[in-house]
Amino acid sequence: MASGRVKITVVGAGHVGATTAQRLAELGLANEVVLIDIVEGMPRGKALDLWEAAPVVGYDTRLTGGTDYALTEGSDVVVVTAGLPRKPGMSRDDLLRKNTDIVQGVSDEIRERCPHAIVLVVSNPLDVMSYVALKTTGFDRKRIIGMAGVLDTARFRSFIAMELEVSVRDVSAFVLGGHGDSMVPLPRYSTVAGIPLPHLLSEERIEALVERTRKGGGEIVELLGDGSAYYAPSAAVVEMAESILRDRNRILPCAVWLQGEYGLSDVYVGVPVKLGAGGIKEIVEIELTGEERKALHASAAHVKETMSKLNL
Ligand code: NAI
Ligand code: 2OP
Repeated sequence: MASGRVKITVVGAGHVGATTAQRLAELGLANEVVLIDIVEGMPRGKALDLWEAAPVVGYDTRLTGGTDYALTEGSDVVVVTAGLPRKPGMSRDDLLRKNTDIVQGVSDEIRERCPHAIVLVVSNPLDVMSYVALKTTGFDRKRIIGMAGVLDTARFRSFIAMELEVSVRDVSAFVLGGHGDSMVPLPRYSTVAGIPLPHLLSEERIEALVERTRKGGGEIVELLGDGSAYYAPSAAVVEMAESILRDRNRILPCAVWLQGEYGLSDVYVGVPVKLGAGGIKEIVEIELTGEERKALHASAAHVKETMSKLNL
C-alpha cells in the first residue's frame, strides 16, 4: 500500500472467490484484483469476464487471473477461499484433511510472495484453517483473520429483521465462538434501533432464530443441493477487507488467535475485534454471563479438538 495502489489476491476462484472478486471491483476497493486457482484457464476466464463488465458497471479495478503465484506478488490483502465446499450431509470437519493440505500450500505461497499481506481466511473448517494459515505463514496473529462471525451475525440479523418486519439496517447482532453448530449468538447484545432483543421477542422466538442461525450454513447447503453459500459469505469477507483497507476501525466479529483473552489461549474463535490498517488493532473483551462464557469455552473446546487431529 506504500505506493497508494491497492492489490488484493483471492485464492480459489470458485463460488465464494469469484463473487468476492466481483464485489471488490464493484466497491472500488482495489486497483488490482488477482484470482488464483489450480484449474487452468478458469481463473483467467473469470477475471477477464469481470474485467469486460468494467465498462458497463463503471469500475477501474484491473482483474487478472491464473494459476501462477507470480501474479500475486506484493498483495496487500489475500483472501483464501481455496478448498472444497460442503456437500449435503457433510460436516465442516469432514473437510479437515483435504483443506489442510490445500491451505498449507496456499500459505507457503503467501509467505514467499506476499510477506506483508493481511490474510483473510474463508476456507472451512474456518477456525482450524485460520490456525493452519497462522502456523504455515508464521505471520503475526493480527494479520491472519478468519471470516465467520460477520456471516453468522448477518444471518442472525436477517432472521431478526424478517421476524419483526423491520429494516435490516436497524438490526445489529452479536455472535461469538467457532464457525459451526456450537457458535454462540448473544441475544442480549443484539438490538433493533438500540432496543435489546429480549425486549422485543419472547425467549421462545429468540431461541428459534438462534437455532436457525446456528444451522444457517447447512440450510443453504440443503437447498442448493450442490455446494454451499457464497453471496452472504463474499459480502462478509469484503466488509472485513473494506474496514482494513479504508482503516475504518469497524468492530466486527472475526476468528482470532486468542492469547488469554476471554480466558482462552492457543485457539481461533470468533470474538469482536477492531479492524483497520494493519489488520486487528484490538480484541474487544465484553462482559459475559456465566452461561455465555461456558458456551464460548465449549465452542473453543470443539475447535481445539479438531485442531488436535492435525499434526502441525
Ligand atoms: P468452490 O468449490 O466453488 O471453490 C473452491 C475453489 O478452490 C475451486 O475453484 C477449486 O478449484 C479451488 N482450489 C482447490 N484447491 C486449490 C488450491 N490448492 N489452490 C487454489 N485453489 C484451489 O467452493 P466455495 O463455495 O467457493 O467455497 C470455498 C471454501 O470456503 C470452502 O472450504 C467452503 O466450505 C468455505 N466457506 C466458508 C465460509 C465461512 O463462513 N468461513 C462460507 C462459505 C464457504
Ligand atoms: C456457511 O456457513 C459453508 O461455512 C459455510 O455457509
